[in-house]
Amino acid sequence: MDRRPIGVFDSGMGGLTAVRELIHLMPEEDIVYFGDTGRVPYGSRSRDTIIKYARQDVAFLNTFDLKAIVIACGTVSTTALEVLEQENPIPVLGVVRPAVAEAAAATRSGKIGLIGTQATIRTGAYERYIAKLLPDAQVTARACPLFVPLVENGRFRPGDRVTEMVAEEYLTPLKEAGVDTLVLGCTHYPLLSQVIGNFMGPDVTLINTGAACARQVSAMLKKRDGLNSPDHVGTRRYFASDSAADFASLASIFLGRDITGAVEQVDITK
Ligand code: SIN
Repeated sequence: MDRRPIGVFDSGMGGLTAVRELIHLMPEEDIVYFGDTGRVPYGSRSRDTIIKYARQDVAFLNTFDLKAIVIACGTVSTTALEVLEQENPIPVLGVVRPAVAEAAAATRSGKIGLIGTQATIRTGAYERYIAKLLPDAQVTARACPLFVPLVENGRFRPGDRVTEMVAEEYLTPLKEAGVDTLVLGCTHYPLLSQVIGNFMGPDVTLINTGAACARQVSAMLKKRDGLNSPDHVGTRRYFASDSAADFASLASIFLGRDITGAVEQVDITK
């Protein structure tokens, strides 16, 4: 048994897609979440800047005595996973491997779509893992830089005309390529699942990378007897680098619970 909390971070709100699944799978776990809302998005920044930000995020989380760190951010997972794994003695888990495993199991035709930030698509990390599991897969990848700002501004609901127009522009080549599985390679994108699903149609399986990662964390902790006591009621603390109130109001909608009292603003650059 391990009573220490799990640390989770993202450039902003998207990592809550992993937190929601972590809470669902392991209600007994304490979670510390950091969203770098003051510096989001990461996906349009250089590799060096993403690594610098990621190190600062992890240094803040490491002020808590953690049992694992979850990189609930597609951009950091594709750009800085190896660096963070080498620098930290506790397990560091990213979203790429679990998401690719779920995509490989889901596809029937081998035609897999991938959407992510510019930084994520630039790394080619998803394609490399897909090629390892499914050498004959045909991957159609597309960067969708406007999706993260839309989500961070709360514009993720179906019926939002701007969001639907942006989705149509980004997703048309994937639809034309006939993909049957679409990896949402950024943890913000599951908040757009309804908009994306409505456009792609019911025959396309959407892979939620944050949730896939949470399932891997749960399996890893079970395997190494690292879960908290089943009698413990898990606590959650949320930290953001911009307004705690803004984070809380959007996060509460997404998590389906009022988390206002659990959010604090922090400056992690000091
Ligand atoms: C971003 O900050 O640009 C998005 C984070 C992600 O890739 O999950």
